[in-house]
Order: sequence, then C-alpha cells, then structure tokens
Amino acid sequence: MHFADFHRRSIAEPESFWAEQARLIDWHKPFEKVCDYSRPPFVHWFVGGQTNLCHNAVDRHLKTQPDANALIWVSTEVDKEIVYSFRDLHAEVQRMAAILLELGVGQGDRVLIYMPMIAEACFAMLACARIGAIHSVVFGGFASHSLASRIDNARPKVIVSADAGSRGGKSVPYKGLLDEAIQLAQHKPAKVLMVDRGLAAFTPVAGRDEAYAALRAKHMDAQVPCTWVDSTHPSYTLYTSGTTGVPKGVQRDTGGYAVALASSMKHVFLGNAGEAYFSTSDIGWVVGHSYIIYGPLIAGMATIMYEGLPIRPDAGIWWHLVEKYKVTSMFSAPTAVRVLKKQDPAFLKKHDLSSLRALFLAGEPLDEPTAQWIAEGLGRPIIDNYWQTETGWPILALCNGIESQPSKFGSPGKAVYGYDVRLVNENSGEEVTAPGEKGVVMVQGPLPPGCMQTVWGDDERFVKTYWTKAGDRWLYSTFDWGVRDADGYYFILGRTDDVINVAGHRLGTREIEESISSHPNIAEVAVVGVADQLKGQVAMAFAIPKDATGLDDPAARLKLEGDIMKVVDGQLGAVARPARVLFVTALPKTRSGKLLRRALQAVAEGRDPGDLTTIEDPSALQQVKDLVAAK
Ligand code: PRX
Repeated sequence: MHFADFHRRSIAEPESFWAEQARLIDWHKPFEKVCDYSRPPFVHWFVGGQTNLCHNAVDRHLKTQPDANALIWVSTEVDKEIVYSFRDLHAEVQRMAAILLELGVGQGDRVLIYMPMIAEACFAMLACARIGAIHSVVFGGFASHSLASRIDNARPKVIVSADAGSRGGKSVPYKGLLDEAIQLAQHKPAKVLMVDRGLAAFTPVAGRDEAYAALRAKHMDAQVPCTWVDSTHPSYTLYTSGTTGVPKGVQRDTGGYAVALASSMKHVFLGNAGEAYFSTSDIGWVVGHSYIIYGPLIAGMATIMYEGLPIRPDAGIWWHLVEKYKVTSMFSAPTAVRVLKKQDPAFLKKHDLSSLRALFLAGEPLDEPTAQWIAEGLGRPIIDNYWQTETGWPILALCNGIESQPSKFGSPGKAVYGYDVRLVNENSGEEVTAPGEKGVVMVQGPLPPGCMQTVWGDDERFVKTYWTKAGDRWLYSTFDWGVRDADGYYFILGRTDDVINVAGHRLGTREIEESISSHPNIAEVAVVGVADQLKGQVAMAFAIPKDATGLDDPAARLKLEGDIMKVVDGQLGAVARPARVLFVTALPKTRSGKLLRRALQAVAEGRDPGDLTTIEDPSALQQVKDLVAAK
C-alpha cells in the first residue's frame, strides 16, 4: 500500500480507519462510536468501549506465548539480569496489584511512581493499569521540589519508590528526596511502598512506609483480574514542562492509547510478537511509557529495560544486548549516540547486529554527522522520529511498515497517519504551504488516538495552552518551528517557547529561573538554552546578585556559582543544573521591561542578536557578550 493513501484515509475517513486499527487490541466491550469530537478541541476515542492496558500488554499474550520473553531487566549497575516471561510478568503484576489494593488504591486513584530503572517500576505501572488506578511516574533525576509540586498536583493515595538507584556504580539515593518532598507537599500520601534494593540505608516512616518484599511474600499467589475500564478512562498522567513554572500533567486515555501504540509498533517501529525491542530511555519520560513498557508489550514483544550507562562496562554494552536478545528494533536519542561517538567506533562492529531492522532516534534534533556516523557504524537504517510527551507517539516519522520510504538527513520524515499537520505563520495565523517556508508546526484537531486528553485537573489550561481556533477548525500547537519540502518531509527548527532540550530531556527555563531566584543573594535571573556539541543544548544562567561585594574575585564568583548549582540540584535535580551561572549587573530588556530572551540566547551562542530597537540598555547585552567571549 502507498503511505500517501494510508495517510489520506486516516484524515478523510477517520472512523473507518481507526475502527480498523482498533482491531489490533482486545476489547472487553466493543465501542459504539469511534470518534466523538462534539466538544472540540476535546476528543473521545472509541466511546462506549471497555478495555484494559494491562490486559493488552500482558494477559492476552498468555494464550499465544506464555513462555516467551516479556520483560528483560538488565542492570550493569548491580550486575544482574532477570528475564520474565509473560507468565512471570503476569504473576508479578498481580502481586503488585494485590499490594496496591491492600494499601487502599481503587479505580481512578492516583499512584505516584518515583523509581529507578528496576523491574518493580514496570510491575507498578502495569499493576495500576490492571486495577484502573492512574499512575504518575516522576523521573528519578528530579529532586524534592519538583517531586513535591507533582505530588500536590496528582494527589496520589500511594507512592511507590525505592531506596536508591545507581549510576556509574555509585548509589543515587531516592528515599531521602522523597521524604523531603512529602514534607514540602501539602498533600500527604496515605502509604509509601518501598522497594529496598539494599543500596542505601533508610529509616521507614512508621505507619506510612510499607516494605514491598514483605507484602509481596504475602501475595505470592495473588489473582487480581483486570478491571475493565472505559476507553476514555485516564490511564496515566505524566508531567512535562512548558512556558510557565508549574509543570503540566499530560493526561492520557486507555483505549485510544492502546490502539495508537499497537498501530505504531507495527507501522512505524516494525515490531512483531515474539521479537525483542530495546529502548534506552527511562520510564520517567514519555518514550519510556510508550516504548519501553506499553508499546512493545502490547505488540507481544520482549522489552529490554536497562539500568546503566551506555559506556559501562564498555561502549559495546548496548550492541552486546542486541546480539544476545536478537533485538529487532531499537530506540534511543541522538545525545546517547553522541556519547558513543566519543568512544572507539570498533565497538559498533564487535557484535552480530543482523537481527536489528532499524535504530529509531527521537527527542531532539538529529544532526547529520551523528546520523551518518551511527548509520555507517551499524550498517543499519537510522530512523528519526518527532513527537512530544503530549502526543505519546510519533507525529512525524517514516511509516516504513506501510511503505518503505527513503530517509532524508535532518528530517524526521512525513506527517504520520492520523495527524493532519499544518505549518502556520506565527504572526498572521495563516497557513504556509510553499515548500521551504517556515511556520509553527500545528495539528488540526481532532488529535488522533493516543494523544493527551487534557491537562490533569485543568481543562481550561489545556485549551488555552495548546489550541487556537481558526474559523470552525481547531489547531493544536507543538510549539516547534518547522519547514516542509516539496516531498512532504518536515524539518524541525527548534521551540517557539521557553522550553529547552538538554540531552533529550525537556526542561522549562522558567522552572530553573524560579529555583535560582530562591538563592538569597540572587535578585534576578534569566536562563536560556545554548547550543552544545554533546547535549544538543545546555542551560546557561545569567544572574544579577543582590550584593555583588567581593564578586570581582573569580574565586568568590565560582563559589556563588557552585552554591546556586547546589540549590538547583537540591530542588529540581541535577538534570536541570545549568552548565554555567554567569553574573551580570543588568539583563537585556525592552523599555516595557520584557526580557529579550531570544537576543540573550543569540549572544550567548555567539550569534547576531538581530533587531534591538526596543532594548532599554544595550550595555546589558554587551556584558553578556564579554562574558561569553571570556569563557
Ligand atoms: O522540540 C521537540 C523535540 O522535543 C520536544 C518534545 O519533547 P518531549 O515532550 O520530551 O517528548 C519527546 C518524545 C520523543 C519537541 O517539541 N523533539 C522531539 N523529537 C524531535 C525533536 N526535535 C527534533 N527532532 C526530533 N526528532
């Protein structure tokens, strides 16, 4: 079939198109209506249908391949490897589900998961789905303040956590940060379920903390049937950054998500039941949700969950796993490839990679040298794809499962079926159609199945943040610039808002600014993303100290910079730590007091800041120029 026809049908006849895709999953009760778009921009998919994500990811494979590999947990941190068949996974998930039920979790209750990359995190996610609870996984790299704001927003009944993670052989404690976060939060969870890996000592809070091992032993033979939920029942929320400081809880449904994942596994990620999938992301990010846990398992594939660095014990570890488990599809991020690129390229050639159909890369722009290096090194196709936490699965990709199409360097491909992608001129609001013309990447509603339903608890914010009404059409903004060429391939040119992308991690500069401002000696600060060879972007902070006495001494400046980084580490987590904090006496602003962010970013990157007619005090930008030149 031609992809163009497939795509055209998905937009012109969404009802029949998606009804067909919906056959890829099991339904307990068939849906009555494929798409309810009667209250745009909100959309409900597969209305009246009942299903369960965990059933589709685990139980339904028991009939056909109970002994096939389901979850392959590999940790090069603690030197362990455990392979769970679908039967094993089914048993573990039921034990976890029984524990959650015992702790009082019911349908619709939230369970916050703050865990390292261990199998129990996967059990916890699936167990929530099994009993109709809504999970909210918080990335382990986030610290107490980030965690506290998510606890307050999600209001979880139970938090599942662990004593520690491990990175580069060093234990990274979780429990202390969690206790601190619960203290900071207004909302208090009834129970905390602790997985004790024996990596960091901790004192359980009496009456609140429960030991996973003890409860698991009690529920060894647990049988917890799947709770059938409406297709529109929220399966999870996942927090992501935007322009304002408060992270948004992206809320996902159940039926639409399951269908979108099943469909994308087949048409984009080329996966089949009985094969193995390896995504190197973390469960704390959307890629981990869609393509470590749910997507591969729904497709009946084994999924590798890897705790460790890509270069330890050596830079061949990933390829060793590909060979050992005959991985057919692999998913990673350009940053990870750039890390490998610094190592001996011989590692790419050491292992038998003949099972691998393709390496999929997403999360940040894929630069040509990186793409070329890995394509040549592996001798396997590299497939860029572009999407967001909000969409849950690719917006732009090459759907080679439908029709094989050539890649173009620098392009994540064409609009994926289900997405009616438009480029819109930011100022006029008019659609741009000429090849090569720049516009904001937008998707005409309804968004296809699998995308966000709303912002958790805040429908108004969902509409205000993402949607623009153009006549009787609604357009969803990705907040990315893009261009399209004559063949329908898109090229992404960066964010239109204050979101930056550090090593594939999406961060809001406003959150980092708020954290830095909490340092007692900081009057004002601006954080911008600056291009970086390895990480794509890094955060650079320009701060005005309240009291600059003594700061002409480089040692004093370094000390203050270090103190500020500690504040960010402690509040948000090392993932948000700026690469540098540089001190200035003024920030570039317009006469009306608006920060000239783009000018600041341009100068910080050594570029021409462009039109500066509105700047109040040009010397503010000169200071930045001098600092950057002196670096
Ligand atoms: O700016 C785009 C960039 O990452 C953003 C979404 O990040 P996140 O919500 O963490 O979801 C990542 C899911 C893979 C986008 O708005 N981005 C993502 N993929 C690409 C990309 N930029 C360029 N090329 C990509 N392939």
